[in-house]
Parts: sequence; C-alpha cells; structure tokens
Amino acid sequence: MKNLELNIDNVFPFVSKEVIDGYEELTRYHIRHLHQRTGKGANFLGWLDLPSNITEESIIEIEDVANELNEKIDVMVVVGIGGSYLGAKAVIDALSHSFGMFNDGRPFPKIVFAGQNISEDYTGELVDFLDTVSYAITVISKSGTTTEPSIAFRILRDHLEKKYGQEEAGKRIIAITSAGRGALRNLVDEKGYRSFVIPDDVGGRYSLLTPVGLLPIVQAGFDIRQLIAGAKKMEEMTRPGTPFRDNPSAVYAAARNALYRQSPKTEILASYHPKLIYLAEWWKQLYGESEGKEKKGIFPASVNFTADLHSMGQYIQEGQRNLFETVISILNPSREVFIPEVTDDADGLNFLAGKRIEDVNKMAELGTMLAHVDGGVPNILIRLPELNEYYLGQLMYFFQKACAISGYLMNVNPFDQPGVEAYKNNMFALLKKPGFEEETELIYKRLNS
Ligand code: PA5
Repeated sequence: MKNLELNIDNVFPFVSKEVIDGYEELTRYHIRHLHQRTGKGANFLGWLDLPSNITEESIIEIEDVANELNEKIDVMVVVGIGGSYLGAKAVIDALSHSFGMFNDGRPFPKIVFAGQNISEDYTGELVDFLDTVSYAITVISKSGTTTEPSIAFRILRDHLEKKYGQEEAGKRIIAITSAGRGALRNLVDEKGYRSFVIPDDVGGRYSLLTPVGLLPIVQAGFDIRQLIAGAKKMEEMTRPGTPFRDNPSAVYAAARNALYRQSPKTEILASYHPKLIYLAEWWKQLYGESEGKEKKGIFPASVNFTADLHSMGQYIQEGQRNLFETVISILNPSREVFIPEVTDDADGLNFLAGKRIEDVNKMAELGTMLAHVDGGVPNILIRLPELNEYYLGQLMYFFQKACAISGYLMNVNPFDQPGVEAYKNNMFALLKKPGFEEETELIYKRLNS
C-alpha cells in the first residue's frame, strides 16, 4: 500500500538542502525527547502512541453506541469547540458527499455541530431544525466548563428534555469528558448519561483518535478502523530511529522551521479540494495553538484553490514576501467527471473535451505551484494517494507529530495554550461573573476613560 509522500524540492530554491539536512540531529534529539517524555509538556503526550494503543474493546464500545443511537435518530448534534470538534468535523467533511447523498440514503446532515460559536442566529436556527428531526446529543468537553459548548448544551438539553421527556432525553445524551473531575463529569454522575473518557494526557487538538473524534466519525458512517490503521502506519513511519529523510514529520518540521528562521512568518495550507476546508481549520488550530506563544510561531493560514486563486491569488503571487505554502494534493479523487465537447465552442475550451475535470485541476495545481515559486513563495508538497479514512489517518498523525517536533524546534511547549485565557477573563469581567469583581471594575473603568 502506498503512503503519504512529502516533497520539499520547491523549498530548495530558497533554503539549501544542506541547511535542511542540518536539522537531522536536532529533529532526532527532539523526537527522542518526545518519546522518552522528557521534553516540554511531557504530561500531554498520550496521543503519540494512541494509534497502536487503541484496544479492540474500546473501538467496539464506540461502534456499539453509535450504531444503537443511529437506529433511532436522524441527526446527532455534536457539541464542542476547538480540539473538541475540529478533528471530527475535518474528517466528516473530507469524506462526506458534498451535497449530502450518503451511500445508504440517510438524510443530510447526519451530524451537525454546535457550541463552536455563541451566535444567536446559529443556535436559534439549529433549534428550528431540531424541531423537525429525531436527534441525540454528544457533548464533548475535556474541562467541562468551556463557555461556548456549555451554553449550547444548556439550550439543547432543555430542548431535548422538552421534546422527549427527562428519561428518554437521558438516553439520547452521550458525554465525552475527562475521567475524574470537572462539571460535565459531575453531571454524568448525577444524571447517569452514557459517557466516554478523554485521557488526561491527551490535549484537545491532539484528541482525534480518542472518542472525541472517533464517536462522531463512526456516527457519520465512516470507518474508524481504517483511520486508526492509517495513523498507526504514520506512527511507525515517524518513530525514533527512522532516518531523517524517511521521516516525513521530521522533514516537514525541519523545512518549515528553516523557512521561518530565514524570513517567512506565514504558512498557507492550500488544497484544490473543497472537502478539505475543515481539514485546514483543524490544521490551523493545531499549529496556531501549539506554536504561537512567547512571541514566536508561524502564522497558519489557509486557502482553497482554485476558488481562492480568484481572491487571494494576487496577494500570494505578488504581495509581501513573508509567505510559504504547503499544498495537500490528492493523487486519485474518487470520482471521474469528463468535460464534454460542445458544437459552438463559445468558451474556446473544446481542446479540453474528453479530459477529466481533475486533469485540469492537477494542471492548475502544478501551474500555480510553479508560479508561486517564481513569485518568491516556497512550496512544500504533501501527496495523498486517495482521500479516504486510511490516508486521513496518516495525514493527521503526520501533522500532529510534525507540530510537536516543530514546537520543540522553536523551544515552546506545543501542548499548552495559556493565551486563550485572556479573552475569557475579559468576557467574564464584562459579564460580571461572580469572583471577577475586581476585573469588572477595571475593565469598565478602561472602557469609560
Ligand atoms: O486544544 C485544546 O486544548 C483546545 O482547543 C480545547 O480543545 C478547547 O478549548 C475545548 O476545550 P474543552 O474540551 O475543555 O471544552
């Protein structure tokens, strides 16, 4: 079976091969520290060997709960934010039919997400929708106290209880949270909800292969065994002792750090498949929260081509030269759609007649990469043989491992997110949360001065 391939040839016009190879020792050192749990944030490294540690028993438990609920529901509402939703959303979007035609004919959308915003319109419209379908709720929060999902869960639990009564509602709520502490765990104990555990040593944005990602993905009808198998393959490919050149996570971490040190401070993740828009959102959280601290870090941005070539393409080609691009290329899309010949040839495109749309997409990809390199934008290329569970497992583990190595190369802790508290403190002060009296006084003084 083929594997994800990394190609950094289009980095070499900007950073020499010798410089990249110079990272061999450093990455080996950091990979060793990761696996020996002796580096920064060592208490949050449970994700490293999740693919090979997941038991058959835990997979069956997840599948059983999902299948049992699927018997009686049309829609599962997954409540969570950040790492408690983006992994599942990325995989489900990547694998779902763009227009909701599941192979088994189930209604669309099967999975909807809530608690990832505090938008009144979104929440109100979601409730309108839930009035019309049979649904259940999976609430995901490691801490159990995150404001956005907590508010959504309050509203949806109330709606569910009114719709089905307390007892049936209790059977339609699944909680995924930490084992022994936190508000959500207390509620689980009090109400008797079915629950799954987020291991203490796995942080939100690294939690795809815990029930956080796996339950919604199974619920959506996708094969988590293949996802895990792909991640396990990448775990093997990136483990200590793998030669630098054969370890894609090490090479990717090295290339982006070499570029960062030279000048570019923004990395754009580009793909030519709209199904990968949320994969990019997941990636942005992973890298943004992991590296952006202590006044360091590469700013993670994303574009979806060719659509964004007609909006962001100008800037990337000719704007400020502080960018590099990482392109995810899918070698074999699952569909074949051919361009027809038309008699009038009004658009002059008959020369493409008989070709697959993907033939054009691939040439757009290649042409853009060459143009961007000519325009001074280094390119890293990630090739996936196909877009399926197995290769998404490889890709997402590859990115996680590279992110950890990259964070260590920047000498930051890639597993914490202290800066996220600042907005929360201000929001609570503004909302006059009990215990925030001093902050409330200060913030209103500041606003009124
Ligand atoms: O990566 C992270 O740790 C964060 O993005 C969290 O996942 C996010 O803030 C949600 O936290 P919680 O699961 O505690 O509600």
